[in-house]
Amino acid sequence: MSRIAYVNGRYLPHASAGVHIEDRGYQFADGVYEVCEVRDGKLVDATRHLARLERSLNELRIAKPLSDAALKVVLREVVARNRVEHGLVYMQVTRGVAPRDHAFPAKPIRPALVVTAKSSHVQKAESNAEKGVAVVTVPETRWARPDIKTVGLLANVLARQAARDQGAYEAWFVDAEGYVTEGASTNAWIVTGDGHFVTRHADNAILKGITRTTLIDLLKREGLKLIERPFTPDEAKTAREAFITSATSIVLPVVSVDGVPIGNGHPGSLATKLRATFHEIAEIS
Ligand code: PDD
Repeated sequence: MSRIAYVNGRYLPHASAGVHIEDRGYQFADGVYEVCEVRDGKLVDATRHLARLERSLNELRIAKPLSDAALKVVLREVVARNRVEHGLVYMQVTRGVAPRDHAFPAKPIRPALVVTAKSSHVQKAESNAEKGVAVVTVPETRWARPDIKTVGLLANVLARQAARDQGAYEAWFVDAEGYVTEGASTNAWIVTGDGHFVTRHADNAILKGITRTTLIDLLKREGLKLIERPFTPDEAKTAREAFITSATSIVLPVVSVDGVPIGNGHPGSLATKLRATFHEIAEIS
């Protein structure tokens, strides 16, 4: 079956879909994006993802291309046309097309919207979660606003490749003070010896993950204790459990950091349980 992409109002064959060479996303990474999990053909936490998309757009003063209701229609249509049961839907909004000039175009231009969807290998993801994943640490090299979900991801790309080169799944950025900020495309968590869930407070240094937010709801429901504060790689190495969260990894146990096993070197029971129950509390629509 051939894939279909949505580009500025049209549903096109994925293989031949394209944007203009002077799209500011292409030239300046002047755009934002969201990734939403698709489960049983439905959108997971779409309302929160669209609220964050709007925030990112506002921070960059890019116009909203569609209302949330219209955008949800497009997301569902792209999911359906690609027959995605389990996977993800990707949406990207750039400032639009204009002759190359760093400053915003003098006259307002139409923002460019692209939506794609992709099926994922459920079995592969589950076996990953059963084994747990390795993380390595890398210096924080990103700009000062990782809270905006921009398509400017070069530092994240290099970090993820550094992880790959070392046989690891994810890289955790470590800031100048020696604290973990987040992963290349995930939020970072540990569980302390006394069972407290620790994740960095959501300031400008991290993306406030939607999975992170929904997991916090789940922790509250389960009566589990959350502390939003930074932690160091050394604290992670002696933690009871560690895990990462994102729309694509959900809750994924981490079994080593820089080669040091976490806990008994196997996925933690708390992270495993939260992964299994996550969708009870997420919005599925
Ligand atoms: N990444 N931190 C970063 C830097 C991210 O890129 C992401 C998401 C997250 C987790 O956010 P959420 O729970 O809302 O997915 C944290 C997406 C999945 C991506 O770039 O593919």
